[in-house]
Amino acid sequence: MSETIPSPVDDMTEGAVRPAGQKTVFVKSYGCQMNVYDSQRMADVMGAEGYREVATPEAADLILLNTCHIREKAAEKVYSELGRMRALKEEAKAQGRQVLIGVAGCVAQAEGEEIVRRARTVDLVVGPQSYHRLPDLVARAGVTPGVVDTEFPVEDKFRHLPDAAQARTRARGISAFVTVQEGCDKFCTFCVVPYTRGAEVSRPVGQVIAEVEKLALAGVREVSLLGQNVNAYHGEGPDGTEWSLPRLLRRLAEVPGIARLRYTTSHPREMTEDLIAAHRDLPALMPYLHLPVQSGSDRVLAAMNRRHTRDDYFRIVDKVRAARSDVVLSSDFIVGFPGETDADFADTMDLIRQVGFAAAYSFKYSARPGTPAAGIEGHLPETVMTERLHALQALVTAQQRAFQDSLVGQVIDVLFEKPGRNPGQMVGRSPYLSPVQVIAPSSLAGTIAAVRIIGTQTNSLNGVLEHALHMNAVQAAE
Ligand code: SAH
Ligand code: SF4
Ligand code: F3S
Repeated sequence: MSETIPSPVDDMTEGAVRPAGQKTVFVKSYGCQMNVYDSQRMADVMGAEGYREVATPEAADLILLNTCHIREKAAEKVYSELGRMRALKEEAKAQGRQVLIGVAGCVAQAEGEEIVRRARTVDLVVGPQSYHRLPDLVARAGVTPGVVDTEFPVEDKFRHLPDAAQARTRARGISAFVTVQEGCDKFCTFCVVPYTRGAEVSRPVGQVIAEVEKLALAGVREVSLLGQNVNAYHGEGPDGTEWSLPRLLRRLAEVPGIARLRYTTSHPREMTEDLIAAHRDLPALMPYLHLPVQSGSDRVLAAMNRRHTRDDYFRIVDKVRAARSDVVLSSDFIVGFPGETDADFADTMDLIRQVGFAAAYSFKYSARPGTPAAGIEGHLPETVMTERLHALQALVTAQQRAFQDSLVGQVIDVLFEKPGRNPGQMVGRSPYLSPVQVIAPSSLAGTIAAVRIIGTQTNSLNGVLEHALHMNAVQAAE
């Protein structure tokens, strides 16, 4: 049998030398955190087949693009990327090496065979519910390119995928994501997710606990639970009953080594009293809530089929703040939903002023094929959307700055992760998710220390160890 000879392409790629005979996989993620989590699971499942994960497409025998369909721009990005991948594939072929290209994720689910027709370079298309079948699909695509699997299978993909902690090769960080719920039954009129991810499914409690326990043993201290509607979680408990998200959070807070819990993304309709109470009762549950509202206009909220009003949102925010006074909020906003008037937009700006957000993601409405909103009257000109987006972003940026500035002088807990921007610095996260740069020994990675915030930068904070400050004060007094 002939051995694979490292090609000149490998030699040009730093740190990407291919060991003789070992296959390699490169996965690129677009879109949301769930795609990032899924990409790791895909790398794991191929890892179990002997594939080593590499950091560049040039070094890979299998290239997987894990795509996003949420807005037109996101979806179109895939096709330009495929053009680049085609060149790599042809170069490899000239050297006698077969490279397979796969499209996964939400574009795969939405467009299926259309992708293979539009980009002949694609060897396989795999939807988000079929990743456990990847080894079989790759084997088939190696023989006959153009394999498409976008079924919503009856079996649960999570039962078949290696879990996050089983991957031997990947260094685990301090902070990890764990998908607990996938899919959406809400059918907001603008959104593709219910079609690309399918109906809401929750992972069983036992599976989630086992994964979090393993991550904790691997050194993870902070876990963010993921779901398109994570607070609609209703997983089967070990006792056979359905567990809610707050019940799951209470249980996970007991896992030794887990110091911090977060969850995202929540829907306002699922902010139950019990979940709000968990913010009051669980110190491990971080005081940061991403609660997308999309619009501050009741008329637009109704047209979006969000099924709550602006007042409902205000009431929820009040209750969460009453349960835990230091909770900060972030949200998603869509500007220029079809039919949105100046008055509707003014309502959104008013809601932002009244609530006060520590961060926000804002988007121009993008008409998505197959969604109800794409077919309704009153699509707005691009210029109006751009104007509104800029105004909204200016307001949110000002709020974000005000929040960061309000932390200066305060002492907050920082969970240290890795070396920081400058030599001698470590970077960690505040409870409010902002990165904090601190002069600190690297031995602090994975620990929480009190840090006094002394300044702000655009997207991060500067701080000093409170402990070190005390020492300086003692030294000065001596
Ligand atoms: N499940 C989450 C959102 C998931 S999609 C929720 O219900 O809030 C992430 C964000 O993308 C949405 O919150 C929305 O702000 C934005 N988005 C979704 N579809 C969009 C579209 N067609 N055009 C513009 N933005 C969109
Ligand atoms: Fe999309 Fe609405 Fe479901 Fe969020 S709740 S994923 S915006 S349909
Ligand atoms: Fe995009 Fe799919 Fe996530 S459309 S935002 S990758 S659920």
